[in-house]
Amino acid sequence: MNFTGAHILSINQFQRQDVERVFAVADAMQPYALRKKVTRVLEGAILGNMFFEASTRTRVSFGSAFNLLGGEVRETAGFESSALVKGESLQDTARVLSGFSDVICMRHPQPGSVADFASASRVPVMNGGDGANEHPTQALLDLYTIRKEMADKGRDIDGLRVAMIGDLRYGRTVHSLSKLLSLYKNIQVVLVSPIELTLPEDIVEHMRSAGVKVTISHELADGIGDVDIVYSTRIQEERFASKEEADLYRGKFRLNQAIYTEFCQPNTVIMHPLPRDSRADANELDVDLDTNPNLAIFRQTDNGVLVRMALFALVLDVVDLVDQYSQDVRWYNSRQI
Ligand code: CP
Repeated sequence: MNFTGAHILSINQFQRQDVERVFAVADAMQPYALRKKVTRVLEGAILGNMFFEASTRTRVSFGSAFNLLGGEVRETAGFESSALVKGESLQDTARVLSGFSDVICMRHPQPGSVADFASASRVPVMNGGDGANEHPTQALLDLYTIRKEMADKGRDIDGLRVAMIGDLRYGRTVHSLSKLLSLYKNIQVVLVSPIELTLPEDIVEHMRSAGVKVTISHELADGIGDVDIVYSTRIQEERFASKEEADLYRGKFRLNQAIYTEFCQPNTVIMHPLPRDSRADANELDVDLDTNPNLAIFRQTDNGVLVRMALFALVLDVVDLVDQYSQDVRWYNSRQI
């Protein structure tokens, strides 16, 4: 894959060597993400951060990653504050905003919308989530986290056993992660969901044709007993026809310390793309897991900045210049490498 000037829209664009290139660049971004050094390599560049659907970490982590490389960020959040509510098309919006920006990140509730937008953009576009379709940068940061967590145990991604739990039908992060895992060898995936919220058949087939061993289960205890990673997801309420319909599935696959102790192998890593739904009727990942050292959810969010910095550096072709435009920081810094 030639990253320079590329849109990042789907995991389908990536081969294994491309993923490993992103991870190697992300590793090199660590001193900047940890504020040991600053770089101004993207000084003068502008990120258009266009989020037409709710987001905390993706939006802010794209923005922080761009700032950490020395660039500026301009944002639109929500339909109501954009001209889309006046009937402007996504393509016209792209023609306008790509005149103001050097790269654009976008989230939108419609599957395929970010690719539609990118087709009219004069600058690279990154998909921050298009409806229930894909969330490619989340999958990259998830796999980067898995790689680090496994390395700490002397393991590789090849041979990994993962349980994906929850709303696998509408959860775009698991759609992208399933495709990404398919690039690796001897992967076993257990899909644990209500029958109505199973992973779309085309993605299951994608994994099986790539050699992934896929098992489907509807019982949490069956699914989490023999895996390295438990990847929990939220019921994607915003994709259902009504809150009442989403309520039918909420809280069905709760994980807490007692369940973890009873059913998981010691040191099973717990992941979640976040946000976790902590309301009482959901509580999919209980706060009593927060002191469990195998809970990797906040390491995932930290890693998201590294991976997004890497993607910006690759797409804007400054990987080899980052250190040249760097200096040590002057302020007090409590972060540890
Ligand atoms: N993981 C994720 O996409 O989170 P946000 O919705 O907060 O961006």
